[in-house]
Amino acid sequence: MTRSDSYPRSLVLLHWLVFVAAALAVAAIELKGFFPKGSADRAQMTLWHESFGLAVLLLMTIRLVVRASVQVPPLPPGPRWMEISAHAMHWLLYLLMLGMPVLGALALAWSGKPIAFFGASWTLPLTVDVPLGRSIKEIHEAGANLVFAAVGLHAAAALWHQFIVKDDLLLRMR
Ligand code: HEM
Ligand code: HEM
Repeated sequence: MTRSDSYPRSLVLLHWLVFVAAALAVAAIELKGFFPKGSADRAQMTLWHESFGLAVLLLMTIRLVVRASVQVPPLPPGPRWMEISAHAMHWLLYLLMLGMPVLGALALAWSGKPIAFFGASWTLPLTVDVPLGRSIKEIHEAGANLVFAAVGLHAAAALWHQFIVKDDLLLRMR
C-alpha cells in the first residue's frame, strides 16, 4: 500500500477527528444517566454532548469541503454490490453526521432551550413549539440507533477487509 492508494492526510485526519468527536458526544450522553437528577455533573454531561455533537457538524462540513477540492483514491476493485454498498454506507454516514446535530439543535430550540458549544450558548430565533421540539427529540433519539448500526457495520466492514480479506484497506485511512 503506497501513499497514492490512501486518502489525502487532511481527509484522514478529519475522518478520525469526526470519529473521536462523535464517540465523545455519545459517551457524554450515556454517562449522564449515572449522575443523579439535578446534579451539576449531569448538566455538564448534557453540555458536553451538545458541544461535541456540534463539533461533529463542524468537522464533517469541513471534511466535505476539503473532499470536494482534493483527489480521492478510487475504491479498491471488487464486485459491483460491494462498491454500491460501500458508497451507500459512506453517504449514509455523511447524512447522519450532518443530520443528527441539526436535529439535536432544533429539538432544543423548539423546546425553548439554549444550545451549548464549549462555554458559549446560543438561542436559535425559532418560535417555541414544545410538542414539535419533543417530536424532533424523539427522531434524534431514534436516529442514534441508526448511527450505532451504521458505524458498527462500517467499522466491521473495514476490519473484515483488513484482517479477513487482507487487502490493507484500513491503511487507506491512515
Ligand atoms: C453526531 C452527533 C450526535 C449524536 C451521535 C447524538 C446521539 C445522541 C444519543 C445516543 C442520545 C441519547 C438517546 C437516548 O437516550 O435514547 C442523544 C440525546 C440527545 N441529544 Fe444528541 N447526538 C448528537 C448531536 C447532538 C447535538 C449537536 C445536540 C444539540 C445541540 C443534541 C441534543 C440532544 C438532546 C437534547 C438529547 C436528549 C437528552 C436527554 O433528554 O437526555 N445531540 N443524542
Ligand atoms: C463516527 C464514525 C465514523 C464515520 C462517520 C465514518 C465515515 C466514513 C466515511 C464518510 C468514509 C468515506 C470517506 C470518503 O469517501 O471520503 C469512510 C471511510 C473509511 N472509514 Fe470510516 N467512519 C467512521 C468510523 C470508522 C471506524 C471506527 C473505522 C475503522 C475501524 C473506519 C474505517 C474507515 C476506512 C478504512 C475507510 C476507507 C474505506 C475505503 O477506502 O473505501 N471508519 N468513513
